[in-house]
Amino acid sequence: MINNKLPKIWYGGDYNPEQWDSEIMNEDLRMFKLAGIDIATVNVFSWARIQPSEEKYDFSELDQIMDKLQKDGIAICLATSTGAHPAWMAKRHPDVTRVDYEGRKRKFGGRHNSCPNSPAYRKYSALIAGKLAERYHNAPGLVVWHISNEYGGYCYCDNCEREFRVWAQKRYGTIDALNKAWYTSFWGHTFYDWDEIVVPNALSEEWAGNRTNFQSISLDYRRFQSDSMLECYKLEHEAIRKHSSDVLITTNLMGTYPELDYFKWAKEMDVVSWDNYPSIDTPFSFTGMTHSLMRGLKSGQPFMLMEQTPSQQNWQAYNALKRPGVMRLWSYQAIAHGADTVMFFQLRRSIGACEKYHGAVIEHVGHEHTRVFRECAELGSELQKLGGQLLDSRTEAKVGIVYDWENRWAVELSSGPSVALKYVDEVHRYYEALSELNVATDMISVEESLDKYQVVIAPVMYMVKEGFAEKVEAFVARGGTFITTFFSGIVNENDIVTTGGYPGKLRKVLGIWAEEIDALMPGKTNEMVVRAQRGELSGSYSCGILCDLIHTEGAETIAEYGSDFYQGMPVLTVNGFGAGKAWYVASSPDGAFMKSFMATVCEENGIASLLPPVPGVEVTERSKDGVSFLFVMNHNDAAAKVELGETARQELLSGESLSGSFDLPAKGVLILKG
Ligand code: GLA
Ligand code: ZN
Repeated sequence: MINNKLPKIWYGGDYNPEQWDSEIMNEDLRMFKLAGIDIATVNVFSWARIQPSEEKYDFSELDQIMDKLQKDGIAICLATSTGAHPAWMAKRHPDVTRVDYEGRKRKFGGRHNSCPNSPAYRKYSALIAGKLAERYHNAPGLVVWHISNEYGGYCYCDNCEREFRVWAQKRYGTIDALNKAWYTSFWGHTFYDWDEIVVPNALSEEWAGNRTNFQSISLDYRRFQSDSMLECYKLEHEAIRKHSSDVLITTNLMGTYPELDYFKWAKEMDVVSWDNYPSIDTPFSFTGMTHSLMRGLKSGQPFMLMEQTPSQQNWQAYNALKRPGVMRLWSYQAIAHGADTVMFFQLRRSIGACEKYHGAVIEHVGHEHTRVFRECAELGSELQKLGGQLLDSRTEAKVGIVYDWENRWAVELSSGPSVALKYVDEVHRYYEALSELNVATDMISVEESLDKYQVVIAPVMYMVKEGFAEKVEAFVARGGTFITTFFSGIVNENDIVTTGGYPGKLRKVLGIWAEEIDALMPGKTNEMVVRAQRGELSGSYSCGILCDLIHTEGAETIAEYGSDFYQGMPVLTVNGFGAGKAWYVASSPDGAFMKSFMATVCEENGIASLLPPVPGVEVTERSKDGVSFLFVMNHNDAAAKVELGETARQELLSGESLSGSFDLPAKGVLILKG
């Protein structure tokens, strides 16, 4: 359980009092009380303050900050400060700054910019983490360690190049094995010596960020950079653990952030935490999917909402205010999907540099008489009333959607068939349809056991890793329903094609093979014409992006293409395999199809909606000890009528007992206990 030291939903966030005079902190503390804030994340970017030079450490300011917070009963999320290296370090140890994609050596500046293979960065980041742990491990308010901040970006320096060769040697053993894995017989790339390998960037194999001549090399470079940063995290983790044996350690992730393989990272994290920054027009199902992904990183364990803005961002093109009620709604949405904390960036606004117009609980005016503060304080008091009853409750889903970072890299690095294909969007189509049906859905890794699911969906499973197809076959054989789509089963972990007909290793379970893949020009569509009504699938739907030209070899055709030279060929098939079924969706369908398709699959599997669906109203469930907590959230700008069923249930925010038809106000939230 995350909150064993403070048994309620933690409420607070990033707090940077080193940016203002110490008297202001007294005012802040007074207002924290008013807002029900009980946790502050400190020391996120203070490395240069606590280590003014290579030889000198000075913790006096942090001591004072921690003392003041603790005296006021504010718990502490203590960051190790290594998300931004000090200027003296960049000057004295130039290896800490990165070389960018274009091959330019960076100077000091910005943040999240240290080379993960810099000996100086590794040494000093682990050292400062250890010193902090040694000094503060017994601090009474300390509840969680926050290593660095939002790891990300890649480096292409000489140290990285050298370490990449070492990494590759470890992975492949011999240069011959590497040549085979990387398919270097293409374009005369055969390597005879490890030293001939260079980093893939704009100076060598890549251009435009994700275009490459050699997918295998680029794919491995992404793995290597993700591993290198994870190594930095692990060094700090170890340094902390030497002194602080029982406090949880995390680092803040960024949802579907493309560059790091978070499933691998999560194995090294005691608790997952993440920063949620949707824009005003992000579909709520996308945010829901991302929360579910963060929950899935540790197989369903609750996570921390480490950051969100109370009102607006500063880094988007158009930084709309969160409308009244939206901050509260989105906070409960996080909880509804498994968060056990609600935390902000930031508690007080800075007055200089690039984040001064980023929202905060305490705004520039400096007092509590603001809309944002009032909304924060209302939520704070609700969370106090909720206490610990929701903590550690879990989502019970019968549907799992497979998500895989390495597969995403491969899909997006692939040269052809279409630049319009976006992995995350295709995954979201399925999540969105299930969300609209109020069906609980987990986001799972390719490594996750499929035992607890009835339906497993693997959209665009282009890369099929060792053992995955066998796992799917076993799952379907014993009665599961598996769904995959166009552009699946094509390559192995090195982006080398599995010959003998797509979808390669998934061919047997699906009972089809794909002969060709058509990419549609922008704006062009084809149709999916249902042959005979099946469940809610009937008539015709639109589809696009890619169209696989498939042949059945055992599967039944449910729908066929409506036009073009492949009119009449199958576009939706289902194959009986053992006691289960495997569906193949050969193109990217429209929303109407997705909804009918998911409704049909759920119906065939006896998976019920948590509540009757109402457009714009999201419903999720968490439960523990046989008690269920049903979250009903109205994302609409108008009230919505929801049917709560005949059994009366206690609503935790109002205390009322509710049943039957209920008018849920715009942005309103219910938590029904039953
Ligand atoms: C990220 C960072 C914070 C801050 C916010 C602003 O999440 O972790 O330090 O920059 O963005 O939205
Ligand atoms: Zn580097």
